[in-house]
Amino acid sequence: MSFQLPLVLGHRGARAVRTENTIEAFDYACQNGILWVEGDIVLTKDGEAVVFHDDTLDRMAENATGRIDGYTLAELETVTLKGGGKIPTFAAVLDVLKKYDACMNVEIKPSSPELGPATAEKAWDVVRAAGLDDPDRIYFSSFTWNSLDRLKEIAPEMRRGVLVEEESGDWRAAAERVDAYSINYDQDLLTPELIKEIRARYRLMIWTVNDPARAKAFREQGADSFFCDDPVAMTKALNG
Ligand code: G3P
Ligand code: MG
Repeated sequence: MSFQLPLVLGHRGARAVRTENTIEAFDYACQNGILWVEGDIVLTKDGEAVVFHDDTLDRMAENATGRIDGYTLAELETVTLKGGGKIPTFAAVLDVLKKYDACMNVEIKPSSPELGPATAEKAWDVVRAAGLDDPDRIYFSSFTWNSLDRLKEIAPEMRRGVLVEEESGDWRAAAERVDAYSINYDQDLLTPELIKEIRARYRLMIWTVNDPARAKAFREQGADSFFCDDPVAMTKALNG
């Protein structure tokens, strides 16, 4: 069987339904039949891989502030998140996936660009330690393209997605260099011409699409996958 990207991925687990990037969010998605989830990997001060989106704790934490890379893993274990839940280790999230035979788009999200290669290395170590070094189950992506350069060196068999946002530089050159499988684009920056150009050469994954009508329109233009905050609702809408 050949590898196929899923139509819907649970963005940060299922951030519209459970606190983003928590065990509860990944568990909720998987339990409800979403077998591909997306989460953001960042390093703690002591070099451990945790799943968290922002550079700082300010937006998400109830009882801590400041840069996440200023905290050790042990310190982060005392942090509680607004809306409930804790910041999980990447290994703990992979345990949830294993329970459900689920798959993950592992977004390497270094807290500073120079940490791109080290964050990728650590994420790959954790994936291997979990026994999930399977290109059909783990899919890497990053806005910090030096992470993808490193992954190409250390895990060439794993597919790579080049994430693109407004401030991104020359994604075409990056995609060529890292031998990308997909381009993962901001929905608000896409045009029909761009979609056509990307699909001529790569798969196209789009974030963050929460409007089923928009997803349907993108799909008709050839998009492959959507990152969705409520992946259960989106799946129902697209299948209905
Ligand atoms: O990987 C898709 C999406 O997660 C990228 O944006 O900021 O939610 O990590 P962000
Ligand atoms: Mg992300």
